[in-house]
Amino acid sequence: MTAQLISGTEIARQIREELKEETARLRDAYATAPGLVTILVGENPASVSYVTAKQKASKELGFHSVQDNQPESITEADLLALIDKYNRDPKIHGILVQLPLPKHINETKVLYAIDPKKDVDGFHPVNVGKMTIGEADYLPCTPAGIQQLLIRSGVKTDGAEVVVVGRSNIVGKPIVNILLQKQKGANATVTICHTGTRDIAFHTRRADILIVAAGKPKAVTAEMVKEGAVVIDVGVNRIGMTPEGKAKLCGDVDFDAVKEKASLITPVPGGVGPMTITMLMMNTVKAAKLAVGAR
Ligand SMILES: NC(=O)c1ccc[n+]([C@@H]2O[C@H](COP(=O)([O-])OP(=O)(O)OC[C@H]3O[C@@H](n4cnc5c(N)ncnc54)[C@H](OP(=O)(O)O)[C@@H]3O)[C@@H](O)[C@H]2O)c1
Repeated sequence: MTAQLISGTEIARQIREELKEETARLRDAYATAPGLVTILVGENPASVSYVTAKQKASKELGFHSVQDNQPESITEADLLALIDKYNRDPKIHGILVQLPLPKHINETKVLYAIDPKKDVDGFHPVNVGKMTIGEADYLPCTPAGIQQLLIRSGVKTDGAEVVVVGRSNIVGKPIVNILLQKQKGANATVTICHTGTRDIAFHTRRADILIVAAGKPKAVTAEMVKEGAVVIDVGVNRIGMTPEGKAKLCGDVDFDAVKEKASLITPVPGGVGPMTITMLMMNTVKAAKLAVGAR
């Protein structure tokens, strides 16, 4: 069997078209544009490129978008005051603080200072709690993107055996919480593996849907995958440079071998990656709708 590709690029494009329409509707019916501020502290090149991509996407959708650049030397108190300002700004519905922050700033304190109603990254404990009890306003972006990839590719999650490799707070734990809910696009039986798991292959070989977020190139080999499984590769690993001087990327799955066993598989790049920013946009539209009482 050679797997079909799940194109995150194409699914993200479809969702962005839908969000563009919703944004226009909000402008017409409520005189409101979804407002997103991205706060960048310092000039870390990776952070600059992430923030630039988020701003570009929000402008393309017609959002009210604000880029707030702060120097590396900003104090924790000043950053907290800035967040408080945006918490009280009615034109801003979503606040994103680009991580990592400089060492002298307590990241947790900063993330907890964001009004949960404006926490479009879904990292505030209030939103993590709401997700866990199945009453989420905002799902964290990467796992929300994975769920959309499954739903929009017609993958049946109801009753499926899902195995997740990796238990980070931004990918592994939330995707488990999302897919175990008694809800549409979920209702799966989920198992989570990590470096303390005794026999990872024993679990991965049982998976109808295998989601890998280990941050280790080719951590999942073909022998670890069941024939016909759906494989979602979250990993983004830099493994050198292309002749054109671009970073060469690979996932956490041995793509060439695993695609011969899987029924569906995400490529890297072009799989989960494009979905993450799109889900941030979706959360911002949701935040604006909640703020104005739109359905
Ligand atoms: N495309 C996107 O938008 C996107 C977004 C976020 C992350 N990512 C990528 O996804 C990957 C994971 O990110 P993350 O932030 O979740 O990583 P992380 O915080 O480093 O967590 C990795 C997890 O994988 C587990 N793990 C590592 N090696 C393993 C192995 N060989 N077998 C089983 N479990 C193993 C670790 O176990 P322990 O807990 O036991 O240490 C940990 O729970 C990275 O490549 C990252 O770049 C992509």
